[in-house]
Amino acid sequence: MSNDQKTVLLLNSSPRKNGLTNALLTACQEKLDALNSNEEKKIVSKSIQLSDFNIQHCTGCDACLKKPFACPLSEKDDMPKLEKELLSASAIIVGAPSYFANVPAIMKDVIDRSRPMKMAKYKLKDKIFSAITASGLQNGGSNFVADTLIHWAIIQGMIVVGALGHPVLMNNLPSESLQKLELTSFRKPSEPSDLAKGLSESLAKRVFGLL
Ligand SMILES: Cc1cc2nc3c(=O)[nH]c(=O)nc-3n(C[C@H](O)[C@H](O)[C@H](O)COP(=O)(O)O)c2cc1C
Repeated sequence: MSNDQKTVLLLNSSPRKNGLTNALLTACQEKLDALNSNEEKKIVSKSIQLSDFNIQHCTGCDACLKKPFACPLSEKDDMPKLEKELLSASAIIVGAPSYFANVPAIMKDVIDRSRPMKMAKYKLKDKIFSAITASGLQNGGSNFVADTLIHWAIIQGMIVVGALGHPVLMNNLPSESLQKLELTSFRKPSEPSDLAKGLSESLAKRVFGLL
């Protein structure tokens, strides 16, 4: 890998690998790859599924507060593997579905277990960060999911960005619900609306431009 190569990591934190969250992340990744093939920039996209990682719950032992800021659980689970992915990325886009208006438990585990990276002088500092959310219902809590992710990023010293789509017609963080706008029918998880896909692509453009 050449030195000027930068990676955008797309992390699907839904326990479901092929759901709505993944469909939006895929739209974002496909746009990133298309932009990359049009230009000289060397930006690599990488998608990973959090459900492939075994991440144990933080026990609150506070070992990470003291040097060497190590977590005893990292000796027996996949947190070191995930840390490596996060640390080697220049931009991180986390996709999360609304589970009772919050991130799924496996993502909360990652958030809690990322504390050693903060304690060791903000290892995730200055990485570009954004969030993509999905829900079952319209107004199903995606905004709270995004808040949790954005706060995680801010506490870790990351730089939070959103899409710069149409200033009047488009939201800034990609989000979609299974429930359609008219409220009486539901879409397939693999078929987000053109608006949500467009917003995911717009986020790709923003992240690409910043890198
Ligand atoms: C445990 C659980 C809790 C959920 N809570 C909510 C909720 O509070 N609001 C909502 O709109 N949808 C809720 N959902 C539905 C998911 O957000 C929805 O199915 C979403 O598409 C899942 O994303 P995925 O397809 O990427 O897995 C919940 C689903 C599960 C399994």
